[in-house]
Amino acid sequence: MQVTFLLRNGEEKTVEFRPGQTLLNLAHENGIEIQSNCEGFGVCGKCHVQIENLQEKLLEPSEKENDVLDRVINVGINSRLSCQIILDESLNGLRVKIM
Ligand code: FES
Repeated sequence: MQVTFLLRNGEEKTVEFRPGQTLLNLAHENGIEIQSNCEGFGVCGKCHVQIENLQEKLLEPSEKENDVLDRVINVGINSRLSCQIILDESLNGLRVKIM
């Protein structure tokens, strides 16, 4: 199962994931830079990403996640906190733009 990250330099990087890990952890395990000032507790908003596909497979963001996203710049309708997305089989082929 794979996720493709769209990097800030325009390149793409596709990596294998294990069900149960977060998108943020997957990025960090693979040397992909996503900021994280709160260690993945969903409060800093630094791990903002935009989801390019499979939106319908993701769980709805929690009220807390939406509150944090409200304070983040460049937020779009497909914005999420990568530390709050737990990967599973249904997200195979996910494409994620790093902001
Ligand atoms: S790492 Fe801080 S909100 Fe995700």
